[in-house]
Amino acid sequence: MKLVKSSAAMARLSAKWDRRVAFVPTMGALHAGHVSLITLARKKVGSTGLVVVSIFVNPLQFGPQEDLSRYPRPLADDLRQCRSAGVDFVFHPSAPDMHPSASSVVVDENALALGLCGAARPGHFRGVCTVVTKLFHLVRPDFALFGQKDYQQLAIIRRLARELNFPVAVVAGPTQRERDGLAMSSRNAYLTVEQRRAAGALRQTLLRGAALIRTGERSAARIETRLRKLFHALAPNARIDYLTVVDSINLQRRHRVGGRVVLLGAAYFGATRLIDNEVVTVPNS
Ligand code: PAJ
Repeated sequence: MKLVKSSAAMARLSAKWDRRVAFVPTMGALHAGHVSLITLARKKVGSTGLVVVSIFVNPLQFGPQEDLSRYPRPLADDLRQCRSAGVDFVFHPSAPDMHPSASSVVVDENALALGLCGAARPGHFRGVCTVVTKLFHLVRPDFALFGQKDYQQLAIIRRLARELNFPVAVVAGPTQRERDGLAMSSRNAYLTVEQRRAAGALRQTLLRGAALIRTGERSAARIETRLRKLFHALAPNARIDYLTVVDSINLQRRHRVGGRVVLLGAAYFGATRLIDNEVVTVPNS
């Protein structure tokens, strides 16, 4: 496994790729969710292809009040995990290398990024789109793997790749979970014991919403009311940001659910904001 520490070195390497390349962008603090994407990346390109992982805590996607400075950066452990998962190249640039202070160009998605996490975290998806665009140019992958856990991010990146004509197939990996169903996340480490116990409520609530739809409920408003009530009962000290049901592709809310929809949830457990989702195909719609 080779560590690539600068964007110039990465660009030199990728200009000469003569094999298929699968790319997993991350911010490090790797857990089983990231590793599952690395495994999927290897499946996509086989033993003759190359798997590239980037580890870069992207300052552009953190708001001024967010956790940039305390975001975990266990590089030695991350590299160990990459090595044992069979990664070929780890791209780990510095922040000034990726975003020189004189930078003036950003990439904005202006439909899917406006609501949901985009509403709570202004500028977040601009930061994600800008860094992912740069990473795609530097790594030149054939496949790029993203987790379904960050559902809105995945939808935005699919659109970005299509609209900016990147010759890359965006591949989604299923959400990896703890035993109680909590989606794995680097931010779970911030939770107190009590918050960690309550955090399973997000998943349980979304699963209940999916069951409601499967058993015939079609009113988005009624589904959302039930979700809120249930979440409050399960986690009275947590604060809901949103609990909603929207179309799985355009993320638009309609009064009656139909087709393929996704239940999306975001909630604060103390200062820690967690998200999760569940996709449902509405029967007979
Ligand atoms: P990060 O939060 O490190 O996540 C990297 C990738 O791992 C994302 O595609 C995310 O959806 C996926 N992932 C996270 N938790 C997962 C889980 N429990 N199961 C499966 N996949 C999971 O997302 C980012 O970094 C950044 O925004 C990035 C795309 C790297 C741009 O900076």
